[in-house]
Amino acid sequence: MTSSQPSKMRKILWFVVAIAVASKQMEKGIKKTVQAGATVSLPCELETPGGTVQWLQNGQPVVLEAITANRRLWNVTRNGIAALTIQDVATSDEGLWECGKVRDDGSVGSKVEILELTVLNPPVEPYIELEDKRLPQGAIITLQEWQLLFIKCVAENSSLPVRRIQWFLETTNVSSNGELFTEYLPGNETYRSWSLLSLNITRAFNKKELVSFVFHEAWIQPVTASVSLNVLYGPTFSISREPGFGIPIVEGMAASLKCDVEANPPSDPLWQKDQGPLPFDVSSGGYLNFTSISRKDAGWYKCTTKHLFGFFTSFGYFLNVRSKPIYIYSVKIEATSAGNFPFLVAVLKCFQPIS
Ligand SMILES: *[C@@H]1O[C@H](CO)[C@@H](O)[C@H](O)[C@H]1NC(C)=O
Ligand SMILES: *[C@@H]1O[C@H](CO)[C@@H](O)[C@H](O)[C@H]1NC(C)=O
Ligand SMILES: *[C@@H]1O[C@H](CO)[C@@H](O)[C@H](O)[C@H]1NC(C)=O
Ligand SMILES: *[C@@H]1O[C@H](CO)[C@@H](O)[C@H](O)[C@H]1NC(C)=O
Ligand SMILES: *[C@@H]1O[C@H](CO)[C@@H](O)[C@H](O)[C@H]1NC(C)=O
Ligand SMILES: *[C@@H]1O[C@H](CO)[C@@H](O)[C@H](O)[C@H]1NC(C)=O
Repeated sequence: MTSSQPSKMRKILWFVVAIAVASKQMEKGIKKTVQAGATVSLPCELETPGGTVQWLQNGQPVVLEAITANRRLWNVTRNGIAALTIQDVATSDEGLWECGKVRDDGSVGSKVEILELTVLNPPVEPYIELEDKRLPQGAIITLQEWQLLFIKCVAENSSLPVRRIQWFLETTNVSSNGELFTEYLPGNETYRSWSLLSLNITRAFNKKELVSFVFHEAWIQPVTASVSLNVLYGPTFSISREPGFGIPIVEGMAASLKCDVEANPPSDPLWQKDQGPLPFDVSSGGYLNFTSISRKDAGWYKCTTKHLFGFFTSFGYFLNVRSKPIYIYSVKIEATSAGNFPFLVAVLKCFQPIS
């Protein structure tokens, strides 16, 4: 009972000294910050000829386990220093690393601090956000022409903020329409960075891919996030004719008018004559075919279409059909009596067609 008092005192004293030594070591401790995925070497400078060393992470002996065995490798350098090499460093490798000599009883004595490791995480896979909704990679977004699009590319959960996000519309650099923002999330001790892109949508953007490139020190190449654009726009008409414009169309000829409607969603052309529906069946595909055109077919034609955005009509086009040329023959018959046979001479006179 009496002998336990000084023993307790000794224990307390030893504990205080140990703390003092430990805090002294913390002071001089080397701090090392690496990007996740890097390789770190932890050499144990202890002199342990013939002995065994033990590495400790945050005071816990490091044991070989299946999860880390292929990343944590033991080496002995030529000058006899044992080193622990950690490949593909992850957050789980963070903390204070020490090594100590293994005593005969298996306990670890005389620890030496190697370094305090901090691992910087790159952002998790960036993604595109539209109206506060996360979009899957390659999603198709439907927009209207002349709409002002606000779209975000978000890179979060990084130890350091992302400093550069670029935007490309197919091969066109549209980064100048983007603005980079960063916020620190104290709860997660991470950064959330995003680029807000604003684009005035035109039909030229239809079916194009909008790609954001996120740059980070930990990445050899930028990581991308993308969406495809589906731009809705109203119809424009183009009308062509067979035979071509400029060649007169004459009764009885074969002729055709063609109407092409350019719109998204696609819209079917429909011909109208003189403000009303066509008095005859129309062939499909925008064609209005006349196998043998007549004077009655002349008139004002318009191409129309029923589109998502409403009913649209083209400019009127006047189809002129000329009458068949009328030939007036005047025949003059002369009888001659040269030789033994009388000759008949016929003179034909031809008049220009009347249009
Ligand atoms: C330790 O060994 C591994 C392979 O076993 C090697 O990749 C690494 O460079 C070595 N490290 C040192 C410090 O020798
Ligand atoms: C987009 O551009 C067009 C043509 O330059 C313009 O008329 C329209 O007002 C713009 N839209 C917006 C929302 O700024
Ligand atoms: C964010 O990073 C932390 C480590 O800093 C990690 O534990 C966590 O799983 C990450 N979250 C996501 C969503 O990846
Ligand atoms: C794209 O444009 C931005 C600025 O608008 C510029 O900083 C960046 O270097 C350009 N990227 C490429 C690949 O040209
Ligand atoms: C931590 O980050 C995740 C996204 O990675 C987020 O959903 C969550 O709200 C964050 N938590 C805090 C406390 O900031
Ligand atoms: C109408 O005429 C065009 C050529 O002018 C032809 O390609 C098309 O097949 C014709 N359509 C019909 C239904 O005959």
